[in-house]
Amino acid sequence: MKATLKYMAGIAGPSGYGSNSTAEQVIQDSSCFFSDQLTAIITGATSGIGAETARMLAKKGLRIVIAGRDLKKAKEVRENIWKETPNAEVIVLEIDLTSFASIHRFCSEFLSLGLPLHILINNAGIFSQKLEFSEEKVEMTFATNYLGHYLLTEMLIEKMVETSETTGIQGRIINVSSVIHSWVKRDGFCFNHMINGTNYNGTEAYAQSKLANILHAKELARQLRERNANVTINAVHPGIVKTGIIRAHNGLITDSLFFFASKLLKSTSQGASTTCYVALSSKIEGVSGKYFADCNESNCSSLANDEAEAEKLWNNTCALIHKRLHQAAT
Ligand SMILES: NC(=O)c1ccc[n+]([C@@H]2O[C@H](COP(=O)([O-])OP(=O)(O)OC[C@H]3O[C@@H](n4cnc5c(N)ncnc54)[C@H](OP(=O)(O)O)[C@@H]3O)[C@@H](O)[C@H]2O)c1
Repeated sequence: MKATLKYMAGIAGPSGYGSNSTAEQVIQDSSCFFSDQLTAIITGATSGIGAETARMLAKKGLRIVIAGRDLKKAKEVRENIWKETPNAEVIVLEIDLTSFASIHRFCSEFLSLGLPLHILINNAGIFSQKLEFSEEKVEMTFATNYLGHYLLTEMLIEKMVETSETTGIQGRIINVSSVIHSWVKRDGFCFNHMINGTNYNGTEAYAQSKLANILHAKELARQLRERNANVTINAVHPGIVKTGIIRAHNGLITDSLFFFASKLLKSTSQGASTTCYVALSSKIEGVSGKYFADCNESNCSSLANDEAEAEKLWNNTCALIHKRLHQAAT
C-alpha cells in the first residue's frame, strides 16, 4: 500500500528520482557525465522503451548501435534521432535474437568495426500468447527475451572487459526485466519445460523469461566480480508503459484494464529513465547484480535472489547452447 502511494505520488527515492522521473531528467544529471565518448549497443531499439533509450543516450553524446531485426524500422529510428541530434553517431546493425547464426553475425560485424564497447542494453522482448519455436527449436519467448541475450552478452563480454581495462571506464550491462518476474513460483521454473514450451501459457512464459533475465544478471555479476573485471550487470523493471508489447494484446479485457490502470502507466520517457540511470549514473559505480525500478535499487522476488538457482540456470543455458551449436555443426 505504502509502495503504491509512493509510486502514484512519484516520491523520489535515495537516487533523487522516482516513478515519474523521465529519461531526459536523468541524462541531464551531472552524475551522468563522461569525458570520453561512450559506445552503447541497445537491442530492441526499433520501438517503445528501447527507441526512447537510444534517443536519449544519443542526445547525451553516446555512440549508439541500434541492434534490430527490422532494418527499415531501425533506420527510421536513426532518422528521428538525427532530426533532434544531427551530429549523433548512430550505427544500425541487424540482429534476430531468435537465431544463433544472426547473433553471431551481429557480433562479428560489430567487432570488425574496432569500436570500444562500454554499455550493452539487453532490452528487446516479446510477449506471445502463441506457442512458437526459434531456429534452434527453443520456445520463442524464452529464446528472444533470455537465451538470445545470454548468447549476445557471452559473445561481447570480452570486448567489454577489454574496453574497461584500456579506458578505465566501468562497463555496464543492463537486462531489461519486469516486475512480473515475481509471479513465477519455484515449481514453475523448470528449464526443460521452458525451452520445450510444455503446458504453454503466454503470461507464465513471459514472467519466466523475465525472471531468467534477473538470474542471468546475478550469476554474471558474481563471475565478473570473481575475475575482478570492471564491468557490472544489473536488471531493471522499466514500469508499465503502453508500448507495442502491450498493444499486441488489445481486446476488450486488456483495453478496459488499461483504462482503469491508466494512473499507474508511465510515459515512454519515464519507462526509459531507469535504464538510462543504471547505464550512466556515477551514483551506482560498482553496483552489480542488483534489481532497479523507478531509478532506485529495489527488491526482487526471493527466487530471483536465489544464487543456486542462478548458477543452475547458467549451467543449463551453457549446456543447451553448446548442444545446439554442436548439432548445427554436424
Ligand atoms: N511496456 C511495458 O509495460 C514493459 C513492462 C516491463 C518490462 N518491459 C520490457 O521492456 C522491454 C522493451 O519492451 P517495450 O515495452 O518497449 O516493447 P516493444 O515496443 O514491443 O519493443 C520490443 C522491441 O524488441 C524487439 N524484438 C522483438 N523480437 C526480437 C528479435 N527476435 N530480435 C531482435 N529484436 C526483437 C522489437 O523489434 P521489432 O520492432 O522488429 O518488433 C522491438 O524493438 C522488453 O524487454 C519488455 O519485456 C516492458
